[in-house]
Amino acid sequence: MSDTPAPLHLHPNRERLVSRAEREERQGHRGAVVWLTGLSGSGKSTLAIGLERRLFAEGLSVVVLDGDNIRTGLNANLGFGAEDRHENIRRIAEVAKLFLDAGQVVITAFISPTLAMRDLARGIVGEADFLEVFVDAPLEACEARDVKGLYRKARAGEIRGFTGIDDPYEAPLSPALRLDTTLQNPEGSVQALHAFLLPRLKP
Ligand code: ADX
Repeated sequence: MSDTPAPLHLHPNRERLVSRAEREERQGHRGAVVWLTGLSGSGKSTLAIGLERRLFAEGLSVVVLDGDNIRTGLNANLGFGAEDRHENIRRIAEVAKLFLDAGQVVITAFISPTLAMRDLARGIVGEADFLEVFVDAPLEACEARDVKGLYRKARAGEIRGFTGIDDPYEAPLSPALRLDTTLQNPEGSVQALHAFLLPRLKP
């Protein structure tokens, strides 16, 4: 939970709103938060997009949160210092929670580099609905891919505090799922993720 106290003088409406349970019953599947974590270039966005396409095609209610729709808007005022990354993750977790309450399957694709940040997110979303997925590609592989050319810039000292180069990445200790994106192609990883997820959405 966030440290910020609830604002005073708010009149709670919860009981009168359409509940998550009602939404889930009508749509025929549960919501969940699939929290992808891993280095830049590990394949989080590719996996998120692939999984979203597949679930959407199957008729599920699904949404992706990634840098494209979060860091350009809601979090446009945040950078990559420790405090800003923490706030980035806190806001993303709160947004994920809102979508979850609306019954959605939420796929998030953010580095979320530390154990503490992911614990924060887990606490906001709620343990039962938080599925941590470690998109595990070694730094050498991410750097060799260098899709955005940022590793080269980080090595050249043009970007400071780049995750994996001169800023830490703490691997999850017990993720719900670990995918090594150097061992299989994106379709294979999406397939593995889908197989893991579906029984949890439609028990
Ligand atoms: S997080 O650490 O706060 O979770 P987030 O996933 O939102 O990071 O953003 C990571 C993306 O921002 C990277 O894939 C990369 O494109 C870009 N980026 C820019 N500066 C940095 C940096 N210093 N460290 C890591 N990623 C960076």
